[in-house]
Amino acid sequence: MPLISEITALRATIQDWRRQGLRIGFVPTMGNLHAGHLQLVKTARQHSDKVVVSIFVNPLQFDRASDLSAYPRTLEQDCQHLSGLADAVFTPTPELMYPNGQQQQTRVIVPGISQVLEGALRPGHFDGVSTVVCKLFNLVQPDVACFGEKDYQQLALIRKMVSDLNMPIELIGVPTVRAENGLALSSRNGYLTQSELAQAPALAATMHAIAERISAGEREFAALVQDASARLNDQGFVTDAIDIVDASTLLPMTEHSQAVVILMAAFLGKARLIDNQVVSL
Ligand code: PAJ
Repeated sequence: MPLISEITALRATIQDWRRQGLRIGFVPTMGNLHAGHLQLVKTARQHSDKVVVSIFVNPLQFDRASDLSAYPRTLEQDCQHLSGLADAVFTPTPELMYPNGQQQQTRVIVPGISQVLEGALRPGHFDGVSTVVCKLFNLVQPDVACFGEKDYQQLALIRKMVSDLNMPIELIGVPTVRAENGLALSSRNGYLTQSELAQAPALAATMHAIAERISAGEREFAALVQDASARLNDQGFVTDAIDIVDASTLLPMTEHSQAVVILMAAFLGKARLIDNQVVSL
């Protein structure tokens, strides 16, 4: 499995596969791979002949410099996980992706979705995500790309970008991979201490409890959010945001809504954990 860190080498590999008429799958990541990422790679394999995984901790999408510098970088271990699963791993440097510096980089901005919810809390974050994913799509030119449903708003953002910019790429959303105790797998779980790891499943449990109440007919979302937030804060979290919105528009529910999504974000110690669940109405 070649590790590719130059654009010319990446393009040559892709061109060679294209000449052979092979279908190319792509999984963009920031590394520190876990079973959730690997599920994306396995799914990409099922839908293509060759799979490219990118590992790039994208500075453009971090709103806090401390978060960027602390982000776990574990390339050797990641390559071990990927061997036998991926056909090439693209590991560019920030200088390769942003040769003129971040300020001079042309941006791809997805209106609406990038500014609400998580986008309102983390200004510029989603512009960094859409810009880097657009660049990676142009470099890899995949037929199919896999993204996790764990990052629900990110998946919606990329779907809109691909549709609005007529990119000929099939997007596949992969269900969230969880530990047995319900905790969604995340590179940020590595920041948790042993005792925080024991508390962490309360985030998913609280979310499932809200989902059940909505399924049972409850529609007082503000009260549900307040209850859940208090419950999390009692269990050692600092709730950052809980939103219940239309699952397809990410806007407040209307009489036309067919499903809502519960979006959860809470700090536990140093880690900001997120999770989500769709509930049919
Ligand atoms: P990263 O956080 O490394 O995630 C890479 C992909 O793995 C994303 O599509 C994410 O939704 C998915 N993923 C993470 N945890 C998962 C889990 N438990 N189950 C299923 N899928 C999971 O998301 C990013 O990187 C970046 O924003 C990126 C898209 C690479 C752009 O820089």
